[in-house]
Amino acid sequence: MEPFQLANKNIAITGASSGFGHHFSGVLARAGARVVLGARRMDKIEARVAELRAAGAEALGVSLDVRNQDSIDDFLEAAEQAFGPVDVVINNAGVQAGAKTYMMIDEADWDFVMETNLKSAWLMAKTYTERVIKNAQTGGNIINISSITDTRTIKGQFPYAVSKGALTRMTQVLALEAAKYGIRVNALAPGYILTDVSRLLLESEGAPEFVNGIPMRRVGEFSDLDGPLLLLASDASSYMTGSVLVVDGGHICASL
Ligand SMILES: NC(=O)c1ccc[n+]([C@@H]2O[C@H](COP(=O)([O-])OP(=O)(O)OC[C@H]3O[C@@H](n4cnc5c(N)ncnc54)[C@H](OP(=O)(O)O)[C@@H]3O)[C@@H](O)[C@H]2O)c1
Repeated sequence: MEPFQLANKNIAITGASSGFGHHFSGVLARAGARVVLGARRMDKIEARVAELRAAGAEALGVSLDVRNQDSIDDFLEAAEQAFGPVDVVINNAGVQAGAKTYMMIDEADWDFVMETNLKSAWLMAKTYTERVIKNAQTGGNIINISSITDTRTIKGQFPYAVSKGALTRMTQVLALEAAKYGIRVNALAPGYILTDVSRLLLESEGAPEFVNGIPMRRVGEFSDLDGPLLLLASDASSYMTGSVLVVDGGHICASL
């Protein structure tokens, strides 16, 4: 068996309308997976699904708001109806509240970021686990998209960095508790890659100095995540659970 193969795997990806999720859908489909793409902007989801199908992939787009339990139920139900039990769920949806400190955010910012980045991962994990049990699946796989801000951050990322710190911790606690259901739970913790989440920082005046602080002297490219993603999504990681794969050009090793 080719260890990084995804043939016959059904993979559900949240936040697949842009950025990482959009890119992941192609990487996973090219490796043989059937992919289910969820997000709120259905025009973008439908456009991506059309591209994937045109390239020969089996893909489905479903409207999803990860802050809403009913929406999560409908997402996983639609995925199962289309392709059968879900083998891998990728909790990728995430938002920033802008460049704000703890003194600048208000309760609405806090709730927006925490519900999207953190509470959603728990709701999805619980709902997915219920389905794995109900379907008598032999196993399952959850990948949380955390961030190096889980351990190392800069001023002005207040609720975002807090949410990612907790998401990494959640990954470890879920791994502990989900093993009895045969479900593995790991996290991918990317450094900085230009998307709508990081644009404010990476297009700011201070960006060159910031990038200089990365040992590899560059921000990441989407393709830098492909190998680690395929590792976590495939049976190549069959003895990995509770792991956090950092993909950051050495950023968290630097003190500046
Ligand atoms: N870019 C980076 O440097 C970086 C580094 C480390 C980690 N990350 C993480 O990577 C993940 C993807 O972010 P990105 O950088 O690719 O930014 P992005 O292009 O803004 O993607 C964020 C995705 O999340 C979706 N989303 C937001 N709220 C949602 C909700 N309530 N329900 C469903 N989907 C929702 C968005 O879709 P809709 O708006 O259509 O719903 C969009 O598809 C995030 O978790 C982010 O924290 C990013």
